[in-house]
Amino acid sequence: METSLATQIGDLKLANPTMLAAGILGYTGLSMKTVIDAGAGAVVTKTMGLEPRKGYLNPTVVQTDCGLLNAMGLPNPGIHHFKSEMGKLKKTKAPTIVSIYGFSANEYAQVARKAQTIGADAVELNVSCPHVEKAGAQIGSDPQLLSEIVEVVADNVTIPVIVKLTPNVTNITEIAKVSQNAGADAITAINTLKAMAIDTETGRPILANKFGGLSGPAIKPIALRCVYDIYNAVDIPVIGCGGISNWQDAVQFIQAGASALQIGTAVAFQGLDVFSKITKGVEKYLKSKGFSNIKELVGYAHQF
Ligand code: SIN
Repeated sequence: METSLATQIGDLKLANPTMLAAGILGYTGLSMKTVIDAGAGAVVTKTMGLEPRKGYLNPTVVQTDCGLLNAMGLPNPGIHHFKSEMGKLKKTKAPTIVSIYGFSANEYAQVARKAQTIGADAVELNVSCPHVEKAGAQIGSDPQLLSEIVEVVADNVTIPVIVKLTPNVTNITEIAKVSQNAGADAITAINTLKAMAIDTETGRPILANKFGGLSGPAIKPIALRCVYDIYNAVDIPVIGCGGISNWQDAVQFIQAGASALQIGTAVAFQGLDVFSKITKGVEKYLKSKGFSNIKELVGYAHQF
């Protein structure tokens, strides 16, 4: 029996459920093409804004016992300068999702429109970066502002609108519902958790920005719980993100309700093979359990 790994996020068709998460290897067309060639079902770019932005000074990344802590400060060339990189992805066999941010609804709309013009197959709204003033999580934890932004973006593009949520809120399911009601086609859960590291000897916070976002295995159980709760609360697809490092993690996120999976920190720790390893492991699992289709496994854990 043939087992299908194909999945769908709104109108977006993926040959397998793995995606490159925003923030890693998503700056250039060439690096994203390499990720697609390694077997990712889709790629998400580094978050792009309206204007070029340098980001924070170094250090911007710290390895912790259980993951990575980063505060890059949303460095990017500006969406208008990203056209040539997107051009390099035209003939690839997997969709490109452009991650975007802004400081107002109007900015989000302008960036989203431009992303669509330069070839984005979907946009992912970064309303969840935990440490940039007046952007990211400050938007994603304000239901009214979030609703306005999602609605304006959805009105300005014809491609799917995905909203990437922050776990740094009291009730993530309420935020997911607000996103759905404002016109989101899918939810990505979750972005990083606000965290910090201090150097024992000097007593100084290590990141130049002091605070950053924690990703990797440490946040996996939190992300899994968020996906489980959001799956119950909305009717749109959920994309799992947060510490997915192997096929067992991937299966658990699908059972919790994820229709697709974003992988970021594991790429940094394991290299590009992680995509094919996860895909093969999930396929083997589906076969061994008698599932003919990945869709049959989505939300499986909710029957108990
Ligand atoms: C950064 O650029 O600092 C990270 C972005 C994010 O956490 O969304």
